[in-house]
Amino acid sequence: MQLAVQCRQSFKVLRQSLYLAGAAVLAALSHSTLAKTAITADAMIDVISGKIIQSPLIIVDGETITDITTTAQQAIPADATHINLAGKTLLPGLMDMHTHITGSHEIHGYNRLLVTPGKSAILGVKNAETTLMAGITTIRNVGAAGFIDVDLRNAINEGLIPGPRLFVSGPPLGITGGHCDNNLLPQQYHQKAEGVADGPWSVREKVRENIKYGADLIKFCATGGVLSKGTKVGVQQYTLEEMQAIVDEAHRRRLTVAAHAHGTDGIKSAIKAGVDSVEHASFLDDEAIKLAKKHHTVFSMDIYVTEFILSEGEKAGILQESLDKERVVGKRQRNSFTQAVKAGIPMVMGTDASIYPHGDNPKQLSRMVQFGMTPLQALQAATINGAKLLGKESQLGSLENGKFADIIAVSGNPLDDVSLLEHVEFVMKGGEVYKN
Ligand code: ARG
Repeated sequence: MQLAVQCRQSFKVLRQSLYLAGAAVLAALSHSTLAKTAITADAMIDVISGKIIQSPLIIVDGETITDITTTAQQAIPADATHINLAGKTLLPGLMDMHTHITGSHEIHGYNRLLVTPGKSAILGVKNAETTLMAGITTIRNVGAAGFIDVDLRNAINEGLIPGPRLFVSGPPLGITGGHCDNNLLPQQYHQKAEGVADGPWSVREKVRENIKYGADLIKFCATGGVLSKGTKVGVQQYTLEEMQAIVDEAHRRRLTVAAHAHGTDGIKSAIKAGVDSVEHASFLDDEAIKLAKKHHTVFSMDIYVTEFILSEGEKAGILQESLDKERVVGKRQRNSFTQAVKAGIPMVMGTDASIYPHGDNPKQLSRMVQFGMTPLQALQAATINGAKLLGKESQLGSLENGKFADIIAVSGNPLDDVSLLEHVEFVMKGGEVYKN
């Protein structure tokens, strides 16, 4: 029993112990036998109401939270392992709705042609651990070659490797020569990204294929992009008819749809087609905002990444034309962000981690506050709003009875200073402690 308690403190110890002690320990550590845990701290943030609870006492049984009171109301149960986080504030694990977990901030542009599927998988394993240790307990992966994100998700769920809860898209859909194609090589190499499909029936087939191979959601490229060669950010790529076909096919199969869209026309068409979230949403106008409000479209705006692209991008191989595009998009996107916040559009935290280092995801929170959100709004975007977008708000996104015990802790009060979330000191996911 004592051994089991120790093992829960650290995944590395767990691995070693399993190696040494074999199958008997494995059985003792399975989720069903996780002992009861009592967590105490200075404070806890209820991200839904914005209230701070002083001296909270959270009881975790197995994977879920079973009781939340205070140490004034209740003594620590004798049968629970006590985790004392004195001096710290508890909050739900962060949720990043736009990542590319198999990518690296050090490998961009033509360097990406050298990355094999095996290397991507290895990067994914490493990045998943880094992300979790930074306090991000759930991510959406919006685009990975070879369904490597599906394998990663499964490996994490099977307990093979540590990582956040993954909701994955597999290869993103895109037009021939579009942002989601690969346009780096000349014609004689006949290179084509896996998600390329043109025409309403082809895109339907592609959606079906992605579902067949394990996607949780569908991602498509509605406009050109910054990092792709030869595409224009402002220009729509899929037609409205194609977008409608993608959304119809995905929704009928109960999957959500995320659309990459920078340019105004593409954003509007994606919203009209019924996508669940618009990624980037850089060039908004009043009509786009009105449409988004009408359709309850969620925006996922990666407003931190521009700093990294412009300062470090060249070294990492980002193309000159992409740097030029970024200079325009970055500024405009931040203005659009302010407009969208003012208009009350539902927002999630989507960072595009992989362009910048995995684990630095929470750096975006300060920018979300700088460009118009209250700290609570930024925190809600990074927790409960993500859970809602995933349709998982009964299980994720806040600290409540019956939800998964995805709990993080920081020193100080992030509602005074969201940048404290760049230094997460404690991470529990599904009742297991990964960092303390
Ligand atoms: N993946 C996106 C693209 O290539 C990244 C955009 C990054 N820039 C920004 N300002 N959000 O289009």
